[in-house]
Formats: sequence, structure tokens, C-alpha cells
Amino acid sequence: MANTASNVPLLLSPEGSADPYAVYRVLRAEDPVHYDESTESYLITRHADVAAAYRNPLFTSRNYEWQLEPVFGRSLLQLEGREHARKRALVSPNFRGEGLESWMPLIRQNVRQILDGGVQKSVDGLIEPLKPGDEVDLLEVFAHHLPVSVITAMLDLPKEDESRFLNWYGHMIAFLANLTKDPEVHRKGIEARVELREYLDPIIQERRANPGTDLISTLATAEVEGERLEDEEVKTHVTQLLNAGAETTDKTFGSIFRHILSERSFFEAVRDDRSLVTPVISETLRVTPPSQMNGRVVSEDVEVSGIHIPAGSLVHLVIASANRDERRFAHSETFDPYRTDFKHDKAFSGSGEHFAFGFGVHACVGAMLAKNELEIGMNALLDRFPGMRLADGFVPVEEGVKMRAPLEMRVVL
Ligand code: HEM
Repeated sequence: MANTASNVPLLLSPEGSADPYAVYRVLRAEDPVHYDESTESYLITRHADVAAAYRNPLFTSRNYEWQLEPVFGRSLLQLEGREHARKRALVSPNFRGEGLESWMPLIRQNVRQILDGGVQKSVDGLIEPLKPGDEVDLLEVFAHHLPVSVITAMLDLPKEDESRFLNWYGHMIAFLANLTKDPEVHRKGIEARVELREYLDPIIQERRANPGTDLISTLATAEVEGERLEDEEVKTHVTQLLNAGAETTDKTFGSIFRHILSERSFFEAVRDDRSLVTPVISETLRVTPPSQMNGRVVSEDVEVSGIHIPAGSLVHLVIASANRDERRFAHSETFDPYRTDFKHDKAFSGSGEHFAFGFGVHACVGAMLAKNELEIGMNALLDRFPGMRLADGFVPVEEGVKMRAPLEMRVVL
């Protein structure tokens, strides 16, 4: 029997999490503001409603007080008004224009270093140089490393500690995505917070005394209206950058290669015509965004698509659904890098073409950095491994509801 809004599976049921896109398809058609008991939240699933909610100040980001603050501290995501604008202005110049340009050599250097071997694995030992013909998990040997190595270099943290950051941010993102409220996931997230903050203590003191050109020095010496950021605030910014910059970009690599290797003609087309690299990335982010929904708490009673949402309710702006809304995109659920119904280059600038990077005041600070990492990384992989293919018998599978992407990508390079 086909699902209708009256029998649509709970989002966190096995059926719902196996294919949340099928749930969203029904909801967009029949029940665009739907109360989902498993997440105890209203799911807003149409493009126009999601765009309006992102821009409506009644949709506050206070949900991050419990979804993130226990592991991040009071981060940008939950700040509002002037405090948000002032603190965001401390980091944003490093992620656009000349500030962004200055990190490009560092991205290229890190890509080379990972491909040439010598990067530490999460377990013991070093990754071997990658050679055509090797069978590997592309995520394990490349995607997990690039974003964390770039942000680590921007913060000027020791390269040999990268596997510790990978471990910490893995637990912190799991905390954020813990829709099922698993106590072990909660405990590990808190433990990671304590360890990372202790680790950062002496580093922040050192940068205050001898500032360099790195991001921690910038934060440690920055003044907001005549006052320096306290240690706790610097730690929160660093924790947020380390997390926000890593998991999402990492997962996007997995989804890009799932799309282009599952349909060989896409791989060959982008390998032979690099003007397709950006469209492949932005289309991947549209149809399979790594961060599939953003929470919000409504501060007053509101009405969306004729449905009343009471003050204090948790809502989810479902990026993964709005990005597939058939009211906005032609053949909306199909991966099509040739599509012309949105501007691929604008998809990284918080323009609301699609919502992979959010929209409105909290739109992603690091979208252009992510774009550059993905472009440089993808070009390097296509240059070195023009014959790359999926390993025999391997079928990549997406997993997750809040964060979603393949967890393994076995390829022959
Ligand atoms: C493909 C990669 C990325 C994706 C899909 C992504 C996605 C997002 C989304 C959806 C939001 C909005 C959250 C909300 O409104 O609740 C956001 C915010 C944010 N992102 Fe990203 N992000 C990516 C990469 C990065 C990178 C590389 C950095 C920095 C190193 C970064 C830093 C941030 C920060 C600081 C915010 C909070 C902004 C604020 O609250 O004002 N992100 N990101």
C-alpha cells in the first residue's frame, strides 16, 4: 500500500531512516507541516516554507542550547541579534575574498600530502601513497582527512594530533545528530568537549603571548567593542570551526563520488570537462545535502501553510526535502549536474537557491572554503585516477537522518 500522510512512517523508524526522501515526498504533497512523533518536532518540507522560516526571527535557533551547547559552548549558531553579528564578524573575513584566497596554497598542499601518503590513519600507522589500481575506501584514505587537515592548518594546530581531532569531532557531531537520545552518544560527546578544551588551554595562552597569523591567534587577540574574547569564547569558536568545517565537507565527498561513480557517464563527463566540477558539487549538495535538516524553536504561535504551530515547539527545516521540492526544481529528485533551473555558483553564497548551507543570518560561514576544498580535492583525484571505478560488487549506501551520506566508498583507483 502506498504511503499517505495518514500512515507515513515515523522518521526514526527503520523504514523512515532507510529512505527519508520517500517520507518527505509524501509530506510535501499532502502534509507540508507534519508533526513527527519520533523526533517530537514539526517537519517543514516545502522550499517556499523553509525559505520563509529561515528568514523569520520567530524561528529562533534556541534548540542549539541543548543540541550543541553542552559540547560546543555558546556558539554562533545559537547567538542572536547584535551579539551574533559582532562575533560572526570576527571569523567571517577569513572565509571570503582575500582572507579565503590566502588559504588556497594550504588546501593544495594538504591534498598533495594526503595523496602522496604519510597522513596518519585514525588507528595506528600511516596511509600509504595512493596508486592507480589500488582498492581503497575513498573516505578512509582521503575524505576523512582533507577537511580536518585544512582546518587544523588554518588554526595552526599540530598535524600529528589530527587523528585526535577526528575522534573528538566525530563524537561531537554524533551528539548533535543524536535524535534517538542514545545515552552513550551523549556521554562521549561531553567527554570529547572536556578533552578538547583542556587540550586548547595552553595553546590559547601561548597564542595570546606570541600571536601568529593563524585563526586561533586572530581570535585570541581580536577585540569586540574594546573587549577581548574570553578563553571560553575562543575555545567555543575553535570547537565550532573544527566541527563545522570537517564532517560536512567529508560527507559531501562521499556523496559526490557515489553520484558520479554509480553512473559512469557522469564520471567520464566531469573528468574530461572540468567546467562540470562546480555543478557536480552543487547538484550533489542539492539532492543529497550532508546536513539534512536544521532545528529551530518558535518563540510565538505561528502559522505555516495553514497549519498552526504553538509557541515553544521544536521544528525542523528539512533541507533534504526543500531541495527536492517539485514546485521549485524540474525532475527534482534526480541528480542532474546539467540542470539550468538554479545557479550553481550562487549555491555557495547563502542565496537560497537551495539550502545545503542553510539560509538567512546563520547561513554557513565556511561555504566558500568548502567549495574550494571540494573543487581542489576533486580535480586532484580526477587527475591522478582517471580510471577510478566502484569496487566489484560494492553498492554505496547512504545512512543517517540528521546527517546523511555513505559511510563507506570502496573504489578501485
Ligand atoms: C559542504 C560543507 C558544509 C555544509 C553542507 C555546511 C552546512 C551548514 C549549514 C546548513 C549551516 C546552518 C545551520 C543552521 O542555520 O542551523 C552552517 C552554519 C555554519 N557553518 Fe557550515 N557547512 C559546511 C562547511 C563549513 C566549513 C568548511 C566551515 C568553516 C570552517 C563552516 C562553518 C560554519 C559556521 C561557523 C556556521 C554557523 C554560522 C552562524 O551561526 O552564523 N561550515 N553550515
